[in-house]
Amino acid sequence: MDWGKKNRISQIIKPETGRTVMLAVDHGYFLGPTSKLEVPEEAITPLLPYADALMLTRGVLRNCVSPETSVPIVLRVSGGSSIIGADLSNEGITTSMEDAVRLNVSAVALSIFVGSDYEQQTLMNLAILVDMAEEYGIPVLAVTAVGKELGKRDERFLSLSCRIAAEQGASFVKTYYCDDFEKVVGSCPVPVVIAGGPKLETELDSFKLAHSAIQKGARGVDFGRNIWQNPNPIGMIKAIRAIVHENASPEDAQRIYDKNK
Ligand code: R5P
Repeated sequence: MDWGKKNRISQIIKPETGRTVMLAVDHGYFLGPTSKLEVPEEAITPLLPYADALMLTRGVLRNCVSPETSVPIVLRVSGGSSIIGADLSNEGITTSMEDAVRLNVSAVALSIFVGSDYEQQTLMNLAILVDMAEEYGIPVLAVTAVGKELGKRDERFLSLSCRIAAEQGASFVKTYYCDDFEKVVGSCPVPVVIAGGPKLETELDSFKLAHSAIQKGARGVDFGRNIWQNPNPIGMIKAIRAIVHENASPEDAQRIYDKNK
């Protein structure tokens, strides 16, 4: 692998543990002003010291994040649809590689919608983005299974989506947790990280989710709502960090959360 690409991946997936805690704040690209992310800098700034990487769009990056930050950026470069439009999966590539380079990003991220009407379009978006990004040694994160496909959150569907993403050249893949998650990881030749999805009922539920995923081979999390929609977001991210980087149990994580209230 090219030195630059390897170096960028190492900024995100920490070599000390081989894992990462990414903070996802890209939701506005199709949801608009999501609850607790209405003023992005208010959600992002206090959490930045605890994030191994920040996932967001160029608009929020330029307007709401200090350029002095040393946190690696994973730039969302797909979009074109909204939550009130006809079909969320009708996405294209929204950002040039030149702009990604200007923003000094460590990776670019794009969604694929396997099984949707726009499956072929979004898989071709991924293939094209990989070609564009390889020119500059920039890793590509493929994001699987969002929108209507969330209903199909089983091992067969997620294994299919993750494997196809890796086959098309993604450097790492973001997906959702499911039963038999080790099969998803085991059949995907690149690192897999998990999204959190909508906010879970209790903190312990989020800790159990992260813990099971890590124990079954996930290389980290890319959590959003379960962190910044929590009334104690700093406690949440510290607790999740312990699960990811120190193999803490969900109960240990709960203690860290309670201590940081
Ligand atoms: C979804 O497409 C977005 O890319 C989010 O980054 C992703 O869902 C992770 O955020 P959350 O943990 O809130 O699901």
